Amino acid sequence: MRSILPSAQGPGRILRGMDRLEQAKSLDGVVGRLRDAVRALPLGSGRDILHGRWLGHPVHPVMVQVPVGTWFSAALLDLMPGQRRAASALIGAGLAAAAPAALAGWTDWAELQRRQMRVGLVHAAANLTGVGLYTGSLVARYRGRTALGKALGFAGLAAVGVGGAIGGHLAYRQASGANHAEAVPDLVGPGWHEVGEVADLPVGRPVRRHVADVAVLVVRETGNRVHVLAAECSHMGGPLSDGAVEDGCVTCPWHGSVFRLEDGWNVRGPATAPQPAFETRITGGRVEARLRGPASQHSAASSHEAV
Ligand code: FES
Repeated sequence: MRSILPSAQGPGRILRGMDRLEQAKSLDGVVGRLRDAVRALPLGSGRDILHGRWLGHPVHPVMVQVPVGTWFSAALLDLMPGQRRAASALIGAGLAAAAPAALAGWTDWAELQRRQMRVGLVHAAANLTGVGLYTGSLVARYRGRTALGKALGFAGLAAVGVGGAIGGHLAYRQASGANHAEAVPDLVGPGWHEVGEVADLPVGRPVRRHVADVAVLVVRETGNRVHVLAAECSHMGGPLSDGAVEDGCVTCPWHGSVFRLEDGWNVRGPATAPQPAFETRITGGRVEARLRGPASQHSAASSHEAV
């Protein structure tokens, strides 16, 4: 029998299947239409709340704890005698909690890269199947068809389990909710680093330079004030040096996150993590940069929250 697990020869069937799913261009028509529909939802500032900007990381994985927990508990109760009403109550609670969790997930999904969206679509389809099965389970229980209700509940848990596994691939292998600028403090040594001649920097236009081995976005304002941020967006690694600079902020060209130049604060999502920012000084006509500590980033952020 062929193994689904990775072997010494290479990836097993699960990993090969996930790789094929990432490349499944046949899903792109549906992906594009759904993405446009989710982006058109009139969520206003609620969009950033659903992304988890207030929490500093995506809120969807936190919200799914409730339906998964209640449904797993209902499955345990279904294996015990006399727990029919308690199991039904847990399934109903899980269904109610699944709706906002799904909305947060769709909001994040609409700002992913194409390969991630294909995987995310199948993740959502598996979970939607689970919701349908749990809805059927609840209806069957209220009609007194307890055995059918239990069977549908177990099937729903299996579907949600598959959805969770695919979500794990999306989150960890494809890093869909990760901070893509997290490594910057480990790559930039302490102290001041040379960026280049101030005279070589255009005024008001972002350029790409390097501090140690880290690509940075450099913006020189009139009056020789120079801002330096890590160039790869914390959301998905988009090139901030290609972004638009306006009102002291840079807008990422990929999904529109807005970062304040002064301290890297993410004033608008989908990025949930701020951008690593540098203090700057000009010495002998040359710009030098030093990575800001988290404390100085936080204090600058709290004093400028309403940009
Ligand atoms: S990469 Fe998505 S907003 Fe920058």
